[in-house]
Amino acid sequence: MQPTSAQDEAKKASAAKAIQRFLQDGMTIGLGSGTTSRWFVRILGERVAQGLRVTGVPSSKSTGQLAEEVGVKLADLNDVGQLDMTIDGADEIDPKGQMIKGGGANLLWEKIVACASKKMVCIVDESKLVDNLGRFPLPVEVIPFAWRSTERHMRTVFKENGLGEPRIEMRGGLEKPLVTDSGHYLLDCHLEKIPKPESLGKQLKQIPGVVEHGLFIGIATDAVVGHATGDCEIFTF
Ligand code: 5RP
Repeated sequence: MQPTSAQDEAKKASAAKAIQRFLQDGMTIGLGSGTTSRWFVRILGERVAQGLRVTGVPSSKSTGQLAEEVGVKLADLNDVGQLDMTIDGADEIDPKGQMIKGGGANLLWEKIVACASKKMVCIVDESKLVDNLGRFPLPVEVIPFAWRSTERHMRTVFKENGLGEPRIEMRGGLEKPLVTDSGHYLLDCHLEKIPKPESLGKQLKQIPGVVEHGLFIGIATDAVVGHATGDCEIFTF
C-alpha cells in the first residue's frame, strides 16, 4: 500500500521513524487508532514478518482487525501487566505534549491503553502541531441515556472556563449518532482555544454522564513529527 497524499506520506514517515527509534524486540505495545496508526500497524506487520517479536494491545476494534490481518500477535489488556509503550496519533499536539484525540472516535480505549503504558509516543504529521489546543473540536464521550442533560452540564463548565456558548455537535448527526466501540455517543465541542486544558479536563470528568474526553494531558512522553519529505523531528516531554 502506498501513501495517497503528501500528508499521508508524512504520517507514514512518522510511524516508520517511531518504530525505528523506540521499538525493541520482545515489547508489549499499545497499538493506536486512526490513519497514522494504521501505517504504524502495517509497518509493524512487515517487521514481524522479518522476525521481530512483539505483542500488541489494540485501542479499537478496527486496529485489532488490521493487526490480525498483518500478523501482529494480540493480547487482552486484562491479561498483560504494564505495557512497554503505546504508539498512537493525535488530532492536535502542543509544545508541552498536551493533545486532543478522538477524531477517529476511539479516545476512551486509546486513553486506557496509553495510561497503562510506560511510554506514549505520539506520531503525527506537521499539520497537527499547534501553539494552543482547541481549534480541533474537542470530543467528549457520553452515556446515551439523558445525553442532553449531560450536554447542559458541559455547557455550564464551558461557561465557567470562559469558553462562552460553543457549538456542540453529535458525532454522526442527531438522526443516526455514531456509537463508539463501548456503546457511547461523542459530542464534538467547538472551543477554538482552550486556555487551561488540564483543569477543563478534570471538570469535564466530574460530570455524571461524561465517560471520558479527548484531552490527553501529561500522557505523551515523546512525539515524532513527520514531513512529506520523509524527514522527522523527535520531541521528548
Ligand atoms: C482516534 C485518534 C487519532 O489518533 C486521531 O484522530 C488522529 O488520526 P489520524 O492519524 O487519522 O490523523 O485519536 O480516536
